[in-house]
Amino acid sequence: MLIGIVKESNTGETRVALLPDAVKGLKAQGVEVAIENNCGLNAGASNDDYARAGGTVASDRGWLFANADIIPVVNCPPAEDLRRLKQGSILSGFLRPLDDPAALRPAIDRGATLFSMELIPRITRAQAMDTLSSMATVAGYKAVVIAADHLPRMFPLLMTAAGTVPPAKVFVIGAGVAGLQAIATARRLGALVSAYDVRAAAGEQVKSLGATFVEVDLGGIQTEDKGGYAKELSEEALNRGRDLIAHTAKTSDVIITTAQVPGRRAPLLVRRDAVEGMRRGSIILDLAAPGGGNCELTRPGETIDHNGVTIFGPLNLPATIPVHASQLYSKNMTNFLNLLVKKGVLTVDMNDEIIKGSCVAHNGNVVNERVAAVLQAASAR
Ligand code: NAI
Repeated sequence: MLIGIVKESNTGETRVALLPDAVKGLKAQGVEVAIENNCGLNAGASNDDYARAGGTVASDRGWLFANADIIPVVNCPPAEDLRRLKQGSILSGFLRPLDDPAALRPAIDRGATLFSMELIPRITRAQAMDTLSSMATVAGYKAVVIAADHLPRMFPLLMTAAGTVPPAKVFVIGAGVAGLQAIATARRLGALVSAYDVRAAAGEQVKSLGATFVEVDLGGIQTEDKGGYAKELSEEALNRGRDLIAHTAKTSDVIITTAQVPGRRAPLLVRRDAVEGMRRGSIILDLAAPGGGNCELTRPGETIDHNGVTIFGPLNLPATIPVHASQLYSKNMTNFLNLLVKKGVLTVDMNDEIIKGSCVAHNGNVVNERVAAVLQAASAR
């Protein structure tokens, strides 16, 4: 069996799906690994590093797509690659099956089996494969580093002979994986941190990191689904949160927003008036920008200035820390591949909850109901 590691083709992408350490483990099982020339360079892994781990450098990218039995990726490759996939091969990565299912069509038509990292169920056994959490951790950290770099103030409290410098005030909206990492990083830099989330369970975690949890009375409504994720809220409940955010924004130097509701546009939480209530020089870093943004003024992929407040809408912060982002991704991906490849033999056990949950298409048949519905609706148009 052959696993192919390709160079990511999205603009600005620097990560690689598997690093040489992962290749060693696969080779030990008798699996062959071939790589695309320089696929890991940005993530600190040279062709020689892969070769030392037992990998070979393929003649070209097309050969890899046509011959590999499994292609682990970070992002979905373009159609021209998918059209060259070996019949019945496996592609796994962030395939965005609910955001852009049509992009998967050429792979489905080749009879491929597709696994989406986003759809891996968040059960305890799957924690070691949770690429979403790994990338959110990297993004939460980097968000604070960017904010600290651009804020015209320092983060820590300093008491000097020249006077006292007060600590920066950082407000984190959405205390999930990225938000908690942002809180921890801002605390390490000495900022005073507060956070808001609709899930009451987040309160204890926020407090355990030394931050203040700001709460709003949502009238006792159910804010969490069975999986522990936030539910989509009514306009009235959202407005209560927006008012609290506008109030807290007035005294915040930095706002980091991370709020998401799976499968929906990111909720709009920071209104224009909240931005206009902030001091000049303040920073908003909107980690929900890929999902449309939590701030009304965010422009995904851009950095803008609104009356002296800088609003960042980054689309791929993990790619700005490629070594560690790839290290975590590669480990998660390896753990996932270990479910599929046992002692060098490929077995797709659709009775396994993780395999079934993450499978978008099996041998060219779309098996995920939500993806099938979106594809059907698109072809009916
Ligand atoms: P996410 O990226 O979907 O959302 C980020 C945060 O935004 C969440 O904490 C959510 O409650 C919050 N949010 C959504 N709408 C909001 C609103 N209107 N106002 C304020 N905040 C809002 O979530 P993430 O970070 O991927 O995970 C969230 C939770 O999922 C975790 O805290 C945990 O409970 C669970 N989880 C479980 C894992 C497991 O393996 N068991 C692994 C990772 C997460």
